[in-house]
Amino acid sequence: MVETKLQLPKSLDEVPKPRFCHLLGIEPLEAWEIWSFLQAAALFKKQLQPITQSPVPTPSLSGKSLVTLFYEPSTRTRTSFEMAARKLGMGVTHIAVAAASVVKGESLKDTVLTLHALGYDAFVIRHAHSGAPYFVARVLEERSKQTNGKVPSVLNAGDGMHEHPTQALLDLLTMWEVFGRIEGLKVAFVGDILHSRVARSGMWALLKLGAEVRFVGPPTMVPEQFEAFGVRICKTLPEAVDDVDVVYLLRLQLERQQAGLFPSVNEYHRLFGMDLRKLHELCPQALVMHPGPMNRGVEIASDLADSEKARILDQVTNGVAVRMAVLWLLLSEQ
Ligand code: CP
Repeated sequence: MVETKLQLPKSLDEVPKPRFCHLLGIEPLEAWEIWSFLQAAALFKKQLQPITQSPVPTPSLSGKSLVTLFYEPSTRTRTSFEMAARKLGMGVTHIAVAAASVVKGESLKDTVLTLHALGYDAFVIRHAHSGAPYFVARVLEERSKQTNGKVPSVLNAGDGMHEHPTQALLDLLTMWEVFGRIEGLKVAFVGDILHSRVARSGMWALLKLGAEVRFVGPPTMVPEQFEAFGVRICKTLPEAVDDVDVVYLLRLQLERQQAGLFPSVNEYHRLFGMDLRKLHELCPQALVMHPGPMNRGVEIASDLADSEKARILDQVTNGVAVRMAVLWLLLSEQ
């Protein structure tokens, strides 16, 4: 059942724990599990307010340790995972892949087994290959069985073109804060859907919680198969953003482009980029979101990115509370 307007529980103890010890994607989750992460994140966000507003101590995962393993660059996801873990009292290690034994040819499996032997409780992984976090989870589950140990949690920080689950959770927390609900919201994802793990995770989360999802972009970048999941595929930007609550502009992933998917960056900006004037003309009621990093002047103009219509920095702020919630719900033993 989709819940429309949830009461925030009084404490984290009242938030139901998800069924899994990993967060590999949004697709395998049920609606109540997504709500658990959002509710816990909202509670953590309250606790992060200045002490005068909420004199509640932050719960602790002290004694536990987290390793971040990023095979692709990141600013927001990595720093907010590390900040979240530190706020919970965890020990944090970052493996700089470019400076690790990976460059001597060590496989992902051996890297993970080595880190497991050092006793980490949680692995945050970003990888260019879709499915890499599933592989890591399997390796850890098999090794933990052999050693009779607890299975460490694997947290997907973005895998190829597949999923970026904590991004979807922080996006939904941002929408929930603004609108007080998720059910019935209309959200248009604009741009490079094909390469976007953000759009895929966002789509699953929004559909499971009863929102309407629309996709629009160059036809070569909007796979029609998404219609089968309940997404409305639109041909033009005006059709997609008509009457929406949120315009979600996606980063044009220039590093993942194959030749010929769109004529030119200028053409892309003209047809699918947004500036403040276009927003006022097509959907003056809508808020604008973007996962970052932005290509200013391509998918989003600076006048829009820096306007009060944009919630992009709120999304970043919410990343810390969401990642605290994820760590707490997956790792705490109460
Ligand atoms: N949104 C996001 O994943 O940003 P980073 O690549 O900076 O982590």
